[in-house]
Amino acid sequence: MSLSIADALTQENDTEVTLNGWVQDFRVLKTVSFIVLRDHTGVLQVTVKKDKEVLQKAISSLQRETVVSVRGKLNKEALTKNGIEVIADSLTVLNKSATPLPLGVIDKVNADIETRLNNRFIDLRKEENNLIFRSESEVLWGIRKYLHEQKFIEVHTPKIVAAATEGGADLFPVQYFEKNAYLNQSPQLYKEILISAGFNRVFEVGPAFRAEKHNTPRHLNEFTSIDIEMGFSDHTDAMRMLQESIKSGIRQLKSTLGDSLSSHGINLPEPPDEFPKITYNECIELLSNRNEVVNFGSDFTPENLKIIGSEFPSFYFITEWPSELRAFYTMPKPGQESLSNSFDLQFKEFEITSGAQRVHDPDMLELRFRKKGLNPEDFSFYSNAFRYGMPPHAGWGLGLERLTMIMLNMHNIREVTLFPRDRTRISP
Ligand code: 4AD
Ligand code: MG
Repeated sequence: MSLSIADALTQENDTEVTLNGWVQDFRVLKTVSFIVLRDHTGVLQVTVKKDKEVLQKAISSLQRETVVSVRGKLNKEALTKNGIEVIADSLTVLNKSATPLPLGVIDKVNADIETRLNNRFIDLRKEENNLIFRSESEVLWGIRKYLHEQKFIEVHTPKIVAAATEGGADLFPVQYFEKNAYLNQSPQLYKEILISAGFNRVFEVGPAFRAEKHNTPRHLNEFTSIDIEMGFSDHTDAMRMLQESIKSGIRQLKSTLGDSLSSHGINLPEPPDEFPKITYNECIELLSNRNEVVNFGSDFTPENLKIIGSEFPSFYFITEWPSELRAFYTMPKPGQESLSNSFDLQFKEFEITSGAQRVHDPDMLELRFRKKGLNPEDFSFYSNAFRYGMPPHAGWGLGLERLTMIMLNMHNIREVTLFPRDRTRISP
């Protein structure tokens, strides 16, 4: 029976096993040869004794990263680090690797990020890189599990769309037969329509496209958005749902990969039970105490956010953003319309999530379109859903890569993106 390396390690001494994997490294000595075999679960030494002449010969023609199948007996009293080896009886080359490798898997010297991304298939064979994406999967599973428990259903909305969701400038145009279309910036409008459709709680995990020209360590042109929308709810309900989703994601990651991460020097954040909140206006005050002048209605610069972030050790919300800074669908704060029922979730200086209570009154929505200089006609596919019974609702969009990045303390979003799309890269 073919086993994974991790499963093989749990077998009894002398068990006959078949293992498949990559030849991470090998050494040919006079009397014996060694292979470090790697699969998706770990590495194990394969030892080929002198008397197995055919095998010794096969080994001498091996290359690093060749894919092999090894049959042999487990020896649990070996002189290896973990005390375990497989004494090989046979070795089959399933696919030979070319040489030299474009990128080493076990080399100590780190290649630059461009070389690594150009050869991502091999870069991801490194344990520490592989671990990033297994971590991301666990975090997402923790969030999904929590949302399911809270009676959200997972939905899938179109990515080829006819109108801008988050504002006009940052759209990728698509030629859609005889019509002009765009890649969607966010599932925002569709998840709201689904609230009118009566689903009450929906979430989506999918790609979002932003034709932003800047090239920074925290922006991608295609990212993965975890989006929720909840009916008969306001921004405070959405914030609570976000806080608990994040905590569930971190719990899931900690319980599965926490030890592996700490062996790589990565300690996961300890989210506070209640994430602190600070309003936009309080941020301005905080900044002015530090001699940083920010006028009401301006967005915070990265430098501003560094100062604000230095006041908080972990996750916190910035609430009540100026209405003029938020998209048309954002609910103004009742009685103080220059502010809005909106929030960002921050981790130190990084924005992880934006969310809000939404406008549900069709007349107010129409006004908001006009205020933003948008043509309501362009959005009739969306605003129609508001005329025939739209519940009050709220939600958020959480960038999966941003979340993974801050959790694993990485400094470039490309590290946590399998195949990043940035200002200059569309391949591989
Ligand atoms: O802040 P954004 O643009 O908000 C929305 O899309 C709203 N529809 C959300 C809502 O429900 N009100 O994007 C949400 C999150 C950001 O906080 C960030 O984490 C991530 O998506 N994000 C990006 N991640 C990487 N690269 C980019 N260019 C990103 N733009 C947004
Ligand atoms: Mg935002």
